[in-house]
Amino acid sequence: VSKLHAVTGAFGYSGKYIAQRLLDAGHQVRTLTNSPNRKHPFGDRIEVFPYSFDKPDELAESLEGVSVLYNTYWIRFNHRLFTHAEAVRNTITLFNAAREAGVERIVHVSITNPSEDSPLEYFSGKARLERALMETGVSHAILRPAVLFGKEDILVNNIAWALRRLPVFGVFGDGQYRLQPIHVDDFSRLAVEQGKSRENTTIDAIGPETFTYKGLVQEIGRIIGKRRPVISVPPGLGYISVAILGKLVKDVILTREEIDGLMADLLCTDSPPAGTTKLTEWAKAHADSLGRHYASELARRRDRERGYGRE
Ligand SMILES: NC(=O)c1ccc[n+]([C@@H]2O[C@H](COP(=O)([O-])OP(=O)(O)OC[C@H]3O[C@@H](n4cnc5c(N)ncnc54)[C@H](OP(=O)(O)O)[C@@H]3O)[C@@H](O)[C@H]2O)c1
Repeated sequence: VSKLHAVTGAFGYSGKYIAQRLLDAGHQVRTLTNSPNRKHPFGDRIEVFPYSFDKPDELAESLEGVSVLYNTYWIRFNHRLFTHAEAVRNTITLFNAAREAGVERIVHVSITNPSEDSPLEYFSGKARLERALMETGVSHAILRPAVLFGKEDILVNNIAWALRRLPVFGVFGDGQYRLQPIHVDDFSRLAVEQGKSRENTTIDAIGPETFTYKGLVQEIGRIIGKRRPVISVPPGLGYISVAILGKLVKDVILTREEIDGLMADLLCTDSPPAGTTKLTEWAKAHADSLGRHYASELARRRDRERGYGRE
């Protein structure tokens, strides 16, 4: 049966893949976004509404008739222009609006290992939101990815980009902390599957391969034909180097908090894989294009008309 589904950020990264799958399944799709004019492949097949976080009644109206809400909205790091605290407030407003509007199910995107006690606001904010979602009483699935990869991703692409341009690659400390990347389309399949259920659940949305950070860098270097010496640098020095490089590309490449989260092994779990696509195989198939262009988080935030991909 065709239903109306709402996806936040359908012209962004994961939201785009979720929206595509819903359209392919014959559903009507509506998006809430900051970027109604961002380039996207959907023509006029998606209804577009703004995130009216400051007008909760309008937000609830924009969710009228929606059976499932897929929520990808979040901010990656604290910045002059946006903060985690604001994203937490806005998301709670969104959850309440969904409940007001009678949305049947919320599929919410979180992070591996969230904890309200975490000193890292990314992880504490996500934990706070998981609790807020449970408290709405709306049927929900919480999906916890560690890292997404695919055509428009940032982390894997930019590791390849650095390997292409720099003679050595520095990892923070010993580089032995781990990550479990999931392909963005495997992730979207999981999200849409969870949109069909009405059971409350929390799933670690991880892929089939576990890498150490250093191992991931070496593997990508091998695959794109840029084997560089991978050296350990003290995290503080690594952070300063990344910050300087960030100035050159006019982006925030990684924040100190992101490095701390990575090094605390927070992007790794003991759960079974939820995706099947191997990063190594995907990277081989995209070895020519991977890392050719730098993928900028801040450019996505500043230029709300350009699409995430480069095609
Ligand atoms: N990408 C990853 O590797 C990764 C890893 C772990 C967890 N996650 C989680 O997965 C979810 C989706 O990630 P994604 O990479 O697919 O996100 P995305 O498409 O870049 O963004 C999702 C939505 O959030 C909005 N947004 C992002 N940054 C913002 C900012 N600084 N200020 C205001 N709005 C902002 C976007 O705005 P627009 O409407 O303007 O596009 C979009 O509507 C997030 O909840 C994230 O925490 C992602």
